Amino acid sequence: MKQDTIIILDYGSQYTRLISRRLREMNIFCDLVSPDIDRAFFDDRNIKGFILSGGPNSVFDVEAPKLPEWVLDTKLPILGICYGMQLIAERFYGSVEKSDKREYGNAELIILNENPLFSNVPKNNKVWMSHGDKVIELPKKFNVIAKTSNSFCAAFNYENIWGVQFHPEVDNTDYGVNILSNFSRKICNVNNNWNAQNFINNTIATIKDTVGKSNVICGISGGVDSSIAATLIHMAIGKQLTSIFVDNGLLRKNEPENVMSFLKKDLGLNVVKIDAKQRFIKKLKGITDPEQKRKIIGKEFIKVFELEARKLKNVKYLAQGTLYSDVVESAVTKSGHTSVIKSHHNVGGLPEKMNLELLEPLRMLFKDEVRKIGKEMKINNQILDRHPFPGPGLAIRIMGEVTEEKLTILREADEIFINEIKKANLYNKIWQAFAVLTNIQSVGVMGDNRTYENCIALRAVNSNDAMTADWSNISKDTLSTISSRIINEVSGVNRIVYDITSKPPSTIEWE
Ligand code: XMP
Repeated sequence: MKQDTIIILDYGSQYTRLISRRLREMNIFCDLVSPDIDRAFFDDRNIKGFILSGGPNSVFDVEAPKLPEWVLDTKLPILGICYGMQLIAERFYGSVEKSDKREYGNAELIILNENPLFSNVPKNNKVWMSHGDKVIELPKKFNVIAKTSNSFCAAFNYENIWGVQFHPEVDNTDYGVNILSNFSRKICNVNNNWNAQNFINNTIATIKDTVGKSNVICGISGGVDSSIAATLIHMAIGKQLTSIFVDNGLLRKNEPENVMSFLKKDLGLNVVKIDAKQRFIKKLKGITDPEQKRKIIGKEFIKVFELEARKLKNVKYLAQGTLYSDVVESAVTKSGHTSVIKSHHNVGGLPEKMNLELLEPLRMLFKDEVRKIGKEMKINNQILDRHPFPGPGLAIRIMGEVTEEKLTILREADEIFINEIKKANLYNKIWQAFAVLTNIQSVGVMGDNRTYENCIALRAVNSNDAMTADWSNISKDTLSTISSRIINEVSGVNRIVYDITSKPPSTIEWE
């Protein structure tokens, strides 16, 4: 049976992925694609409707991405959000006003007409606005169906086409989920359900199909994402997969031994360990810029994988556990209109030319969705609950140049921090915790002597999907124990600080 699908055309908004997330939470299958995609891509899907996302462009920009005509030709329901709405208005000869002043924040939506899009939504409700340009003149035959005090047209409709100026996909829109559900279930008539088991079955089938008789290598770090990606691929193609664990010298204390043991024993993977410590450390010598570090590490990973691929026969694919949050922040969604936050080593850090094709089964998922998939696959909780650890490892937790001496200090401090939060039963309540070696030295006094040593920052955050995060509230007692243990047990450290910034404005990692 062909899967009922909503197609989301990605015009580059930071919120785009939330649209697909909301739909998936309602068990609605959706595909997030570039607006310039070919109709043929969806031949095996039963398309039920389209959502046009927001985006940073203005419809007036010469290069602005357009609304594909084939989408209109299908006569299927279309919902344009923000930039998507403006695109529709422009295509049907309405007027959009260019504005450099953004309307950003909550607004009260007033529903003017009964419409299936607003079924079971109160007449007055709170929505989230984030736009500059707006529709000032309706296309002929279109009806305004809702307004706010700032926009006479906050939503419109004409036959199978709807547009909303606000963002139903963000939490701050009180009835956003109802609106997206009304569009998908009531207007598009999506009937069948998508869930973790379907994802696993479809992914295994797609991997088998894509890979055929070739062999695959999978870069595996022992983190949740790469472990689950490798296990899915192993389920699909068995012995055609060789997993490669690279010890890049940037790992935490005892990590190589621990990871190799559970990859083999618990997941039953055929995994090879490569000692590439010297190679990475040498390349990072003298490098202080975070983006440069990420790019160097991404490139070295690929070189190691390509070397290993040559030792095996017929390897065509490099598999990775890339997630959607890595893709968004590295700004390589297919439309390429998102701004770069940082180059995740496995996405924006990849070299332009590679001899292997990428196989990334989790590229469309967020971390919590991956954990759900892992649960369904009966992967052991100790693996599923591991805190994320970035591919560039401790290199992006050491500010400034990475040296062996700094790595040793950070490893010891990090191990104490993690052990103490485990002892305090906090590890599973915290989304991610780690120590950072700042490049600040400060004056202290130990015994009767002056010291001038390193400052360690502790970072612990709660999050759902790494797109936003808040710092964790760890008790004073636990923080005191951690602080005094690090000071007493790790030489070269005389000051500990606790990071109390959320994301945004900070990011989770320091680099
Ligand atoms: P930021 O620092 O961007 O991190 O808020 C969001 C999440 O992504 C992890 N992270 C990475 N993971 N390769 C990865 O595999 C990377 O290059 C990378 N950079 C950040 C980070 O640890 C956090 O969980």
